[in-house]
Amino acid sequence: MSEFVPLLVFGAGKMGGAMLNGALRAGWPAKLISVIDPNPSDALRDQAKKEGFTLNPAPGAKAGLVLLAIKPQMLDSAAVALAAHVDSATVLVSVMAGKSIADMKSRLRALTKIVRAMPNTPAAIGRGITGAYIAGAISPSEKALVAMLLQTTGRLEWVETEDLIDSVTAVSGSGPAYVFHLVETLAKAGEEVGLPADLAMRLARATIEGAGELLFQDAATPPATLRQNVTSPGGTTAAALEHLMAADGLQPLMTKAVKAARARAKALAG
Ligand SMILES: NC(=O)c1ccc[n+]([C@@H]2O[C@H](COP(=O)([O-])OP(=O)(O)OC[C@H]3O[C@@H](n4cnc5c(N)ncnc54)[C@H](OP(=O)(O)O)[C@@H]3O)[C@@H](O)[C@H]2O)c1
Repeated sequence: MSEFVPLLVFGAGKMGGAMLNGALRAGWPAKLISVIDPNPSDALRDQAKKEGFTLNPAPGAKAGLVLLAIKPQMLDSAAVALAAHVDSATVLVSVMAGKSIADMKSRLRALTKIVRAMPNTPAAIGRGITGAYIAGAISPSEKALVAMLLQTTGRLEWVETEDLIDSVTAVSGSGPAYVFHLVETLAKAGEEVGLPADLAMRLARATIEGAGELLFQDAATPPATLRQNVTSPGGTTAAALEHLMAADGLQPLMTKAVKAARARAKALAG
């Protein structure tokens, strides 16, 4: 186990809050944790009192690790306050979408160690997946602490180039919305074949929930095998898959969608 360092959670909204709770659950000592949030909720104030972490500390003390979890558009206005808590020894972990390592370095010049991470919304229930890229020379123990922090919301994959963060964004960052839309399209198709709308939605939703849970619980089995296991030759599933898996079926559409998301991520990062 790596030695815990002072952790500053900068922005304790959905993602920062989930990782704060995860760090506390994982045993990060509360006395080493500070949280900066300009308008803390009553719940956050109560939690700080109960658990013993510091809320909105005075500038001065440098953090060993900073989790930067504000909205990307807040970076400019927050940079001065943040600069007071970092130095060249600080590891900054940013989960901000669309803000590059260069964006952060240009605003926080003292920084030499930056991790750019892209989580996704199932992080809120501990079932997210995060892709992360390391810029700068971070030690194995610092990397282990960063991994521990990011894994409090689910799984973690390291990528070798910053460029790949845009691809991670396009696949897993935005991916939950694609799956939610799949539920909508399956329900709509159910209506087209005569089901009442509410029943079609319940069937579609439970199907995606259950299939997702099967994938989760049967992690060793490739999705293609799970698909083949429920597809008898000449049966009903095969009839549908003939369309979904056609040359102009779901694959080219998904590839087009993911490429559009990646292009947008690149454009937003500037
Ligand atoms: N949620 C996700 O699933 C998800 C997925 C991938 C990446 N991300 C990234 O995670 C970041 C946070 O997203 P979120 O969904 O957690 O947003 P959020 O719930 O709005 O959280 C942002 C938090 O930062 C606080 N804040 C604003 N200005 C600040 C400042 N100057 N100093 C310190 N704290 C400040 C906000 O306080 P107020 O509410 O008072 O403004 C809020 O508590 C974003 O950059 C987003 O791109 C989120």
